[in-house]
Amino acid sequence: MKTPELWKPANRQETELLDKLDSKRLPHHVAIIMDGNGRWATARGLPRVAGHTAGAEALRRAVEAAPDLGIGMLTVYAFSSDNWQRPRTEVSALMKLFHMYLRRERARCVENGVRVSIIGRRDRLPAMVLPAIEAAEEATRKGTRLALRLAVDYSSREAIAAAAKKLNGHATRDRLSAALGGPDVDLLIRTGGEQRLSDFLLWEAAYAELVFTPVMWPDFQAADLAAAVAEFHSRERRFGAVPKIALA
Ligand code: FPP
Repeated sequence: MKTPELWKPANRQETELLDKLDSKRLPHHVAIIMDGNGRWATARGLPRVAGHTAGAEALRRAVEAAPDLGIGMLTVYAFSSDNWQRPRTEVSALMKLFHMYLRRERARCVENGVRVSIIGRRDRLPAMVLPAIEAAEEATRKGTRLALRLAVDYSSREAIAAAAKKLNGHATRDRLSAALGGPDVDLLIRTGGEQRLSDFLLWEAAYAELVFTPVMWPDFQAADLAAAVAEFHSRERRFGAVPKIALA
């Protein structure tokens, strides 16, 4: 692997991990379910919101490390449509955090060639969040190193239903994929120890490699992302065909 520009391996173990990665077989589209913020905070006697704040830092680290690992698109689950059911104070804190993140990270994203966009419903978001989203999307639209997609008020079932409705009875696999607007997911990571998809990118992840890690999202480091990419390498992707060895 080439020497990372932003993420410097912290120790020999990380350097060896990077060396092992095959630059020809890197996942292009990585999706992350950033789970475990609440538990991380509770374990430290902190309010859950402190876990989300630390989670925003973990996201910044992942965004910095992703291009060096050959990742071209990173889609992260920031707020599911079911998350509206959380206590009002937590929802409002999360919305404030998105607002702050979008405003604070905008310049850094422009500098690092990160194009930011939001997937999900926009019509239910608080009025203060929308302009911050639009400003971040506009300011970063020329970024080519990494496409960062934040899933906010997102439900994959709802997105699939909306795409099918738009196709008005003419849905095919390809048309539905196109209507959903994003490429297939190569690698899907879920932190926090749970092993489920929680209505995230259900169509796009049809052939994704799934990696579940017990690491709580606020503790997630660049090295954890590299380890997930290494795990992706170790899997043989067959897309429903027979293993290569069986054809030999
Ligand atoms: C799941 O952990 C996490 C969320 C519902 C929010 C994700 C938000 C962030 C990582 C904040 C940063 C994001 C942006 C875009 C600034 P949980 O609260 O369900 O954790 P638990 O399972 O331990 O309770």
